[in-house]
Amino acid sequence: MRIILLGAPGAGKGTQAQFLMNKFGIPQISTGDMLRAAIKAGTELGLTAKKVMDAGQLVSDDLIIGLVKERIAQSDCENGFLLDGFPRTIPQADAMKEANVKVDYCIEFDVPDDVIVDRMGGRRVHPASGRVYHVVYNPPKSEGKDDVTGDDLRIRDDDKEDTVRSRLGVYHEQTKPLVDYYQAAASNGLCKYSKIDGTKAVDDVSAELSDILS
Ligand code: AP5
Ligand code: ZN
Repeated sequence: MRIILLGAPGAGKGTQAQFLMNKFGIPQISTGDMLRAAIKAGTELGLTAKKVMDAGQLVSDDLIIGLVKERIAQSDCENGFLLDGFPRTIPQADAMKEANVKVDYCIEFDVPDDVIVDRMGGRRVHPASGRVYHVVYNPPKSEGKDDVTGDDLRIRDDDKEDTVRSRLGVYHEQTKPLVDYYQAAASNGLCKYSKIDGTKAVDDVSAELSDILS
């Protein structure tokens, strides 16, 4: 099963990707997590990406397309994958089409901007696994610690309110057009398209996803 999770920053893509990965046994391909790993490793890609990400802007299409093509060619993607945070521009979606990468489902998470700003203030992450928490809405079992490893949780560098607002602006300008793009693909029978209410509680959103994908 090949699934695109489409939605604004903080809409819940990473949270639900963890649920879907466990349920369907397919890998999460989070371009944001890949870039953060490159920053941590101090690679050339990481150095380029850091400045752009800290400003809340998008990394260049060429870099991202290369990264994703390489990742989906790996053997664990043979039975499908979850694209989390990709594609997020029309050229990225076109590149997938040109490479003949078909998707089965495109799922849009609908969450208003004011809810997102509130969520990002309380987000805590476990970078090594991609697990995501919220101090109020999805708290870890032990405060400040990852449920599985017990490692310390972190605040993402781009979760400052100003940066979140820039990222939301970029989303509306450059990523939202993909809603029409994939709805058109669905009406031509190329994939299925569903829009879900991402403001519901985490478990309710997971239940809705299970229904759509069953
Ligand atoms: P990326 O890491 O992809 O960030 P994003 O798309 O901005 O999305 P987030 O990870 O912020 O949010 P999410 O939807 O995963 O929400 P989450 O589940 O964490 O990208 C970062 C940067 O990398 C970009 O700005 C860009 O610079 C670059 N980049 C990445 N991909 C790129 C690409 N393709 N092209 C170019 N540049 C790229 O949830 C958020 C919070 O809400 C958490 O605290 C969570 O616990 C909580 N929460 C989740 N669901 C609920 C719920 N239902 N109710 C209450 N709280 C909830
Ligand atoms: Zn995410």
